[in-house]
Amino acid sequence: MLETKLIADTLPMAVTWEDGDLFLLDQTQLPLATVIEKQETAEQVWESIRLLKVRGAPAIGVAGAYGLCVAMKGDTDLPLSDFIEKMDKQAAYLDSSRPTAVNLGWGLRRMVRTAKAAQVSTAAELYNVLVAEAIAIHEEDKRLCIGMGENGAPLIKEGMGILTHCNAGSLATSILGTATAPMYMAHNQGVKFRVYADETRPLLQGARLTSWELQQAGIDVTLITDNMAAHIMSQGLIDMVITGTDRVAANGDVANKIGTMGVAILAKHFGIPFYVACPSSTIDHDTPSGEGIPIEEREDYEVTEFGARRTAPEGIKVRNPAFDVTPNELVTGLITEKQIITAPYTENIKALFG
Ligand code: MRU
Repeated sequence: MLETKLIADTLPMAVTWEDGDLFLLDQTQLPLATVIEKQETAEQVWESIRLLKVRGAPAIGVAGAYGLCVAMKGDTDLPLSDFIEKMDKQAAYLDSSRPTAVNLGWGLRRMVRTAKAAQVSTAAELYNVLVAEAIAIHEEDKRLCIGMGENGAPLIKEGMGILTHCNAGSLATSILGTATAPMYMAHNQGVKFRVYADETRPLLQGARLTSWELQQAGIDVTLITDNMAAHIMSQGLIDMVITGTDRVAANGDVANKIGTMGVAILAKHFGIPFYVACPSSTIDHDTPSGEGIPIEEREDYEVTEFGARRTAPEGIKVRNPAFDVTPNELVTGLITEKQIITAPYTENIKALFG
């Protein structure tokens, strides 16, 4: 398939379902080691999501859906009503692993809804329904990535400099990424452009993951630390910003990796378009504005240590919000699988996605 050829052959998939088992790439070990772990229990899947072994909004949506299958696999002998009761509990448990990316809850709710609507008489049959739905979510995510790539690629012109933040790449999704899908497609069409990847403190998704996957694809990528973005922009090196998102509120406010709002403010200052690649699975129609998006706060050690080496005084007070919310007025457009949406976002999101 063309879309799988766009990424490097050597790039491992974040999520794989093979012969009834779930395998997750441990992204915490990249780029130094490629370790793929079989997921045996709901607890293991919960921890893989919580520790960011699998991360990125679409990928955790897919991992959560398969995770429910892992959780229910050993219960096919239960009476159907007991199976359904346990499925509800396991879905809620898996959903509690991370709060900000809406895809996780979206995927799990879809799994439970589909299972409850299924006309089956045994738990074993219902388990098969769960597996089929998880595979459908996975396949659908691939199509969403391709759609964003097709719609976003024409924005990328010869010679452009593009800044991205965090990893909204293939590793964060089922195939081409969200922010990177237009990049992979433009690159495949022979367009020459440069990408600047923000390092993305504290967990370095830009350095460890984005620069790694784009480099393997042969895309011209330069790594910078987060605090270099203003300087690089001031030198006229950036023509466009494209990021991903973990949740888009109904009014177009965008939650993404901490630091994204700063990039958007800088982009406005320098008159640079700021685009967000956003599959429909990341739009939260039930949350009216960014104020309602839960922001994950993570452990202090992620800030007080660098590469497991202490870099701050013992006892220091720390804040570690993992995401921030960029107000919709700073967003030039949302690159979706259907089309690029521009302001007014509330009306246009509703018109396109209901
Ligand atoms: O904490 P992470 O690594 O899961 O954060 C991921 C991001 O912020 C991505 O930009 C977002 O999920 C979009 S992924 C296509």
